[in-house]
Amino acid sequence: MIHPKAVVLLSSKIRSPKVLLSAACLVLGQLAWVAPVAAQQDIIDERQDGFKEMGTAMKTLRDELKRGKPDAAKLSAAAEQLSVLAEKIPAWFPEGSGPAAGLKTDARDYIWENREKFDAISQALIAESKKMSALGSSGDASALQKQLIVIRDNCASCHDSYRVD
Ligand code: HEC
Repeated sequence: MIHPKAVVLLSSKIRSPKVLLSAACLVLGQLAWVAPVAAQQDIIDERQDGFKEMGTAMKTLRDELKRGKPDAAKLSAAAEQLSVLAEKIPAWFPEGSGPAAGLKTDARDYIWENREKFDAISQALIAESKKMSALGSSGDASALQKQLIVIRDNCASCHDSYRVD
């Protein structure tokens, strides 16, 4: 990390705006450094809590669909909650919050090595949960069941590649 005093010293000696700009960029680059370990632990706790909530929402969907007459409002609300949580997934995984930090997490380094696919699966989950929410009031048991399987497969496809078993 560049000491702030050094930057002040540096900039006082530099007249050229171009050089000043690149000095500023250098400092900004340093600021992008990964958060300290304690902050990473908070991030991991937050995402694990979020995933637990996703698990609960999934259970509500499964339980409702097992009943002869699912409660449409409950179904839609749980699916909606799933989509809201799915939107947060990319932000739950900032650089440096993987196993490299030495913290207890089931996230694999592969997340940061193949980020595009990871974010694409999250996006798909948002879309599929919204479909499920819209289907909630249809009472179409077979369509609902199919959609539940689509969502379950989405969770599994991410876990298979990106989560330690
Ligand atoms: C884009 C990737 C991705 C998707 C989609 C995803 N997960 Fe996960 N999930 C993870 C990762 C990675 C972890 C490990 C997090 C950690 O330990 O830091 C995890 C952890 C979990 C956990 C364990 C949380 C804990 O520590 O107690 C549960 C439960 C879970 N996911 C449920 C779900 C459900 C249900 C779905 C689908 C509705 C889902 N996940 C979709 C990547 C994903």
